Amino acid sequence: MKGHFISFEGPDGAGKTSVLKALVDKFQPRLGQRLLVTREPGGDPLSEQLRKLLFDDRNRGMDDRTEALLFAAARRQHVVSVLEPALAAGKVVFSDRYVDSSVAYQGGGRQLGEQAVWDINAFATQGVMPELTIYLDVPSEVGIQRILQKRQNQVNRLDREALSFHHRVRKAYLRLLAQDPSRIQKIDATQPFDKVIADAGDVLRQFDPAIFG
Ligand SMILES: Nc1ncnc2c1ncn2[C@@H]1O[C@H](COP(=O)(O)OP(=O)(O)OP(=O)(O)O)[C@@H](O)[C@H]1O
Ligand SMILES: [Mg+2]
Repeated sequence: MKGHFISFEGPDGAGKTSVLKALVDKFQPRLGQRLLVTREPGGDPLSEQLRKLLFDDRNRGMDDRTEALLFAAARRQHVVSVLEPALAAGKVVFSDRYVDSSVAYQGGGRQLGEQAVWDINAFATQGVMPELTIYLDVPSEVGIQRILQKRQNQVNRLDREALSFHHRVRKAYLRLLAQDPSRIQKIDATQPFDKVIADAGDVLRQFDPAIFG
């Protein structure tokens, strides 16, 4: 059995976590233990500790390059301790964010340069890349509004950035999409939630009808 690595990407509030939850409800009965859901930064104990540091409001003074390196470090640990063993065991792995998030947020949002951020992440990932990326696209205003309205108790250090930061993040995502249209499949995430789920199901079915058909 061949493993499959599928990542879910998009700006804050696009619906990644909600969509993943719905897709797990849909496919878990069929896939059982073969389905593994993970998230970045996080997914293993060390990476989850790094996640806490990265999102902690007390770390407002964090240098941008430090931030990029910590995300890459958390990713490295996640690759080695979660992704590689799962893929070797033939699992279907859904990850809430992966390397595109770093390119979009630290490369675009923080303006560190998309290529520079790719380079440190090439070191971190050693070529472990998703076969398929479901990119949930929403205008920054819509995503931020959703977070402020519905998740007020969970607004983190990055959510609080200026709107111009979030605009740069989305633009960087759209550049990634243009560069890699066969891997990255865009879904209009401003649609009603059920339609977003249906579209995501269609993309997965097209990707592998034997698993998701
Ligand atoms: N299609 C949709 N229409 C309206 N509201 C939605 C839709 N999808 C998700 N939401 C709502 O938007 C909010 C943010 O969703 P969610 O937490 O899944 O986004 P996310 O992409 O995981 O965000 P983050 O990047 O901050 O983790 C939630 O309250 C969710 O219910
Ligand atoms: Mg989320």
